[in-house]
Amino acid sequence: MKNIYKNSQKSLDKAKILLKKNNVIGVPTETVYGLSGNAYSNKSIKKIYKIKKRPKKNPLIIHYYNIKKLKNDAYINSEFLKLYKKFSPGPLTYILKKKKNSEISPYANSNLSTIAVRFPKNRIIRKLLKILDFPLAIPSANISSGVSPVNAEDVVDEFGKKINFILDGGNSNIGLESTVINLVGRIKILRPGAISSIDISKILKKKIIFQKKIKRINSPGLLKKHYSPGIPIKMNCKRRDDNAAFIVFGRRYKDNKNIFNLSSKGSLKEAAKNLYKTLRKIKNLNYKKINVVKIPKHSIGIAINDRLKKASN
Ligand code: TXA
Ligand code: MG
Repeated sequence: MKNIYKNSQKSLDKAKILLKKNNVIGVPTETVYGLSGNAYSNKSIKKIYKIKKRPKKNPLIIHYYNIKKLKNDAYINSEFLKLYKKFSPGPLTYILKKKKNSEISPYANSNLSTIAVRFPKNRIIRKLLKILDFPLAIPSANISSGVSPVNAEDVVDEFGKKINFILDGGNSNIGLESTVINLVGRIKILRPGAISSIDISKILKKKIIFQKKIKRINSPGLLKKHYSPGIPIKMNCKRRDDNAAFIVFGRRYKDNKNIFNLSSKGSLKEAAKNLYKTLRKIKNLNYKKINVVKIPKHSIGIAINDRLKKASN
């Protein structure tokens, strides 16, 4: 594909020039692919919302190379430091209080007093963040409410020619969006991900709760419909309905043209990595509905169930 650029110094230099000029480009991360723009530029941020057709009330995650670069934009606290040491760079997003004199575009955090920040681990996005003198706002690279992309071709599938530069980083290693944890006021998980509440509890030495209802903070991860391939999904199915694509998990299932196994060896990690790829494939094969078997609700299985539930609304 003409708009996909291989990992090289030349591609990184080109990406830097484009971002400096307020363009929006596709980038790999270890969770999912994202659409990135200069977080300090109103112009770039407005472009991101427009291309994604994203409601303006849904704030973006600001991505940094390291904590040093974050200090101008957010107040850090002791919980943040403990988690940062253990899990960053990696698939954990922190909600922190935004500094008054921060240069982050108010459009990027929907004018809230907080910002979401993440330090991605993928080595290509890290190389890019390192050579920039501004952080990047990076939402998942999909049209709002749809399935997130997990490779460069998926970004093309979502946006076609609207995005003319995508950095190629192969398949996203994790395949599901980062865990989002609120560290302002009561600590709670706003979106489950690869890093579980148990992992976090161990570090903070206290029980960590999930936010159940949408309150004032508008987290689209918490909006009812999301991550949807645009066709009905039924969860916890024992068998396949007529004409449906059947998403299964584990050894028990035979391969068959209507059966899509997320992990025949029964690994939840592998299932997470295959989930969005499978939903996109089924949609592009023109199935009209999807049945999914019961997926175990522990470790990253919690995040898989969360995404499927929202996709089935
Ligand atoms: O893994 C990820 O986090 C990916 C990759 C590209 O880094 N990004 C991602 O971004 O998933 P997005 O925009 O698709 O989801 C951002 C989530 C939303 O649920 C949003 O509501 C929440 O983060 N969020 C952002 N800022 C927030 C804030 N200030 N308070 C509460 N939630 C916030
Ligand atoms: Mg998203």
